[in-house]
Amino acid sequence: MASLGMAVNVDAAGNLRGFHASAKGSERRLLIGSHLDTVPNAGAYDGVLGVVLGIALVESLRQGQLPFGIEIIGFSDEEGIRFGTPFLGSRALAGKIDDELLAKTDANGISIAEAIHNFSLLASRLPEAEIGSDAFAYLEFHIEQGPVLDALNQPLAVVESIVGQSRWSVTFQGEANHAGTTPMHLRKDALAGAAEWIEAVEQQARRVQGLVATVGSVEALPGAINVIAGTAVTSLDIRHPSDKVRRTAGTRMLQTAERIARRRKLTAHSRPLLDQPAVSMDAGLVEVAADAIRKAGCTPFRMPSGAGHDAMIMVEKVPSVMIFLRSPRGISHHPEETVLAEDVELALAAGEHLLRQVAIK
Ligand code: HGY
Ligand code: MN
Ligand code: MN
Repeated sequence: MASLGMAVNVDAAGNLRGFHASAKGSERRLLIGSHLDTVPNAGAYDGVLGVVLGIALVESLRQGQLPFGIEIIGFSDEEGIRFGTPFLGSRALAGKIDDELLAKTDANGISIAEAIHNFSLLASRLPEAEIGSDAFAYLEFHIEQGPVLDALNQPLAVVESIVGQSRWSVTFQGEANHAGTTPMHLRKDALAGAAEWIEAVEQQARRVQGLVATVGSVEALPGAINVIAGTAVTSLDIRHPSDKVRRTAGTRMLQTAERIARRRKLTAHSRPLLDQPAVSMDAGLVEVAADAIRKAGCTPFRMPSGAGHDAMIMVEKVPSVMIFLRSPRGISHHPEETVLAEDVELALAAGEHLLRQVAIK
């Protein structure tokens, strides 16, 4: 970004930000961004593709006389893997980081505030990270991360909405004991209880159209081959386009955890980590993006996003829209996640059309 003559800085939330001023001195700015963090053992495109595409757009339009500036944002933490709460970078731009959130700690007991300090940043400067009224729109390019566009053989799509998501930590507490001397009927096996619950979560999710529920992590303690697990710490991620359906399913799954625990003489405790409502993208920008995709020579397919994105935080502060790129084999959050170079080229072309259309609005 510096080599493109952009003013580059890292804000107090660790977001990498670059600004390309308008050739015509306009104070207005279009935001283009996505996240730089990943999940463990991830692919190479989730997030960072949207940042690099934004930079490529600045590079391709640099000579153009755009009547607005462009700010590129590489969000520091969208996945929420380290602290359990996602969208930390975009929350800073939306002015939604409070002391309660700053106090959240990672697995090593380091709080978000300490992590900011350890990164030589000042949490006291977080207000400076907030976007101002000069920001008039947010655009995020992102891989679809699912099988839809690949199955339709479509390179691009406009995202109309992003499903809501809930996240919990659910702990089953039993009693560790000797694996060799404890008869089966005398056990309080927390891991066996968690396993029964995980199966029940899957069965309940399969019965609700459009619902997905995932227990992505299980930690059995003390975690020895010859010790009955006294504790099992699990995670629960639930998504659905309807917030009512998602919340009802979550309540039911947590009640199931308690019912299984009671029968097995265990206890089950759930700790909410996230309740992120579903959002719609800006209707006007969806039409502009659809038209830009059409001008790039592609069918302007429209779809919801099953994955969460920074756009669901940004849309609360500024009109926002997303353009999806096809995920070959629908693989993501996996080293085999990839994109087709020709789809990236089409996305860049659509981005150029979109910027020109926005310029004349
Ligand atoms: O979890 C998600 O939906 C996204 O990858 N952050
Ligand atoms: Mn992701
Ligand atoms: Mn992502």
